[in-house]
Order: sequence, then C-alpha cells, then structure tokens
Amino acid sequence: MIGAGMIFDETYRPFFENVRRDGLFSRTTGPCDVELAAVASRTGRRAAAYRAEAGDRIGDFEVIVEPDVMRQVLGAGVDFVCVATPDHRHFDMARDALDAGKHVLVEKPSVLSLQELDELSRLATSNGVLAKVVYHKLLDPDHKKLRTLVADGVLRHVNNGYCSLLEPKQVSGTQFAEWIQGRNPGTYVAVHYIKLIDFTFGGRLTGVACSGQRGIVGPANGTTWDSIQLRLIYAYPSGREAAFDIHTSWVTPDNFPGYVEQEVQFRFDNGVWNGHSRKRGVECTVEGRTPIELKTTMNNHYNGAFLEPNGHRSRRGYGIEALEWFAREVAHVEFGGPASARRERLDAARGLAYNDLSADRQVVAAVQAMEAILDRAARGRPNGFVRVNGPAGGLEWLEPGGASELLYEPAV
Ligand SMILES: NC(=O)c1ccc[n+]([C@@H]2O[C@H](COP(=O)([O-])OP(=O)(O)OC[C@H]3O[C@@H](n4cnc5c(N)ncnc54)[C@H](O)[C@@H]3O)[C@@H](O)[C@H]2O)c1
Repeated sequence: MIGAGMIFDETYRPFFENVRRDGLFSRTTGPCDVELAAVASRTGRRAAAYRAEAGDRIGDFEVIVEPDVMRQVLGAGVDFVCVATPDHRHFDMARDALDAGKHVLVEKPSVLSLQELDELSRLATSNGVLAKVVYHKLLDPDHKKLRTLVADGVLRHVNNGYCSLLEPKQVSGTQFAEWIQGRNPGTYVAVHYIKLIDFTFGGRLTGVACSGQRGIVGPANGTTWDSIQLRLIYAYPSGREAAFDIHTSWVTPDNFPGYVEQEVQFRFDNGVWNGHSRKRGVECTVEGRTPIELKTTMNNHYNGAFLEPNGHRSRRGYGIEALEWFAREVAHVEFGGPASARRERLDAARGLAYNDLSADRQVVAAVQAMEAILDRAARGRPNGFVRVNGPAGGLEWLEPGGASELLYEPAV
C-alpha cells in the first residue's frame, strides 16, 4: 500500500481487515488469503499508529518511509500494489510497481496524461500483469441502475446533463495542505463523473472546455484552483451529440449539511434521471455532533460502519467492494485455473472496461485537457478549448484567436 491518508482510512483499511478475517473465496480459486504486507507514506506516523491500534485485526505489516519507497515495498514480498498517493504522484509509483511485474491498483484519477497512460499500459502488457483504477462510483447501486436502464434501452439517447461534487473547505485547507499547490478540484473529483458518463453512455469524446475560480485556497492569479466548471462534448454513432457540465469545488463551507454534495441530472430523448447521493432518504440530527462529526444526510452505501442484525460489527459499501473486486480479479488470474491458461484469464480481466487502465483513455484525455486549459489560463491565456481527435492529432489545445498547441499526437 502506497499512501496512508484519507482514502486509505476510508476504504483500504476496512478492505484489508475484512479480507484478513474472511479471506477471498470463489469456486475457481478456492480460498485465498490476502495479507497487508507493507504501508508506505511520507512520515509513517499514521501507518504505525494504525498498526498499533488495530493489532490482530490487520497484522504486523511493514511501515515504510522515503527514500526508495518502491524498493522497500517490493522487498516485503508483495503480489499487488495499491497506489493512493496524491493525484500527481500516482504515475511514478505505478510505473515502478508494474516494471517490477506486480499487479497495480491506482486511485482515481489514474494518471494526468495520455503519455503516462501509454507507458503504464505498455508495462502492464509486457509484464503480463493487471493495471487497474478505482472508480467506485460505478459500483454505487444508483449508478448501476442508471446504466442498466440505459443498456436495456429504457432510457434512450442521452442529450445532455450536469453533475456536481462539492467538497468542504476542510479538504483544501487542512487535509490536502501538503500537496494542494498548483492543483484543482476538477482533476480530484470531476473524474468520478467523467468516468460515469464515459462508461455509462459510451460515445466518442470530441471536445473539452473548462473554466475555474481562484482566490480562496491560493492567490487570485496563482495556479491553485478553488472551483472548476468542466464541459465535455461527446458524439455517438447516430450522428448526434451530447454535452455534460461537471462542476466541482473544495471550498464549500465545512458546516454544509451533507459534507460532500453530489448531484447529477441526465436528460434523455424519453426521460430524465435525477440523482442526489446524499438524499437517499436519511436525514439525522444529533445535538452537538451533526453536521461536522456526524453527517446529517449520510451516504450509507459508500462505506458505512454497521451493527449487523446478527450482532457483528461491519464496515461495508461500494467503496470497499471496488477494492475487493480487484483482489478477486488478481486471484482469478493467478489461481483461477491451470497455469497454461493464465494468459486467457489475464486477457479477460484486462477486458473489464470499468476498471482497466486501457479503457481509461477518454477519461485521462479529459483530465489532460482540463489540466492544460487551466495551466494556460493561469499563465494569462484563458478560454482555451481542447479538440479531441481533430485534424492535428489526438489532443489539440486551441486558443480563441487562432493559436494552438498539440498536447498528444496519437489518436485518443
Ligand atoms: N476514490 C475516492 O473517492 C477517493 C477519495 C479520496 C481520495 N482519493 C484519491 O486517493 C489519493 C489519495 O488521496 P487522500 O485523500 O488519501 O490524500 P491524503 O493527502 O490524505 O494522503 C496521501 C498519502 O500519500 C502519502 N504520500 C504522499 N507522497 C508520497 C510519496 N512520494 N511516497 C509515499 N507516500 C506518499 C502521504 O504520506 C499520505 O499518506 C488521491 O489520488 C485521491 O484523488 C480517492
């Protein structure tokens, strides 16, 4: 495990504890043990405190700190590596792990450019291992239902839609203080919805526009962004187009009732889908505890702590399930049949578009385009647009008035 921050606490810790207790089982693999072997982070403090506090729930993993993190992790004898470092530090870690022939699971956004994606895909292919990314929102039951209705033709042809995800100020002000310089909330969270749109509706990404605001997290003329408005244009085999607006922020007041505000609306030829992930029916007030310590409108589907009817305590939800699915895919590749058929099992696992890096091209293209537009805006060249697979190449940044720059030459 590389990174021991917020997402490690929320999803990886419960995953590793659950799987240590229960193992993984399928008829093809038989029982598999999964042990957390090592946790690497900048200081090692949180990992060491966790190891001491969790005791036998997690076991005696190695606590690793810089320098030369990956060499130490590999020395712990790992079979797969999970990368949950800040967004712009995914690539190096994922590359080194794949280069060493390890399966890799990387947090979203997988990487920030198609050049990086190409390199990781090449290593995964040449070393015969899996390179996958965590998009747990695809496992959210509401999003699964949306996709089911689209796949079954109940909702027909998406025309346009919007998504918003608003994070509290605490995230930009405290949580990410170490790495927020030069970063933006769009790459951090819009990517969930870019993938949802890409995976659910299919289609071909043709253009990306983006605007943003500064002045709260950093200076009004700096490179660190408070909020971002992203627009994606898609084309479909029918010859028709759709547009999607994704608004994100990490400067929403901390006492906002939902803590993280997430909403989508998609309009179809014959219907409208409205989703609000924090209004699934529960609203709870506890004097002195909500909305900061406890959430008023809690999402009990993502990652909740429960007293089960049989008396057991559990942590469960789609955030944890997404990690288990990956571990099951690794187990199936390695132990799901004869060694002679490993190649077929590997190809089948790599064919899963929901999490395989090879199916993340349009998402990474959108992220790279957004980063490029924001970078140029911060340098006094606002209102850029990125054309995808146009006459000049895969990704071309265009400035109003005529200037252009090729960001990625091969086809997206
Ligand atoms: N799937 C989700 O919904 C979700 C939610 C939150 C975060 N994330 C993603 O997870 C990643 C981590 O986010 P977070 O919220 O846990 O961040 P965080 O700042 O809380 O934690 C980052 C961790 O990475 C470690 N780290 C940083 N640089 C390192 C390096 N060079 N070598 C080793 N360790 C290093 C830090 O010590 C820290 O433990 C980000 O990419 C983020 O986008 C995903």
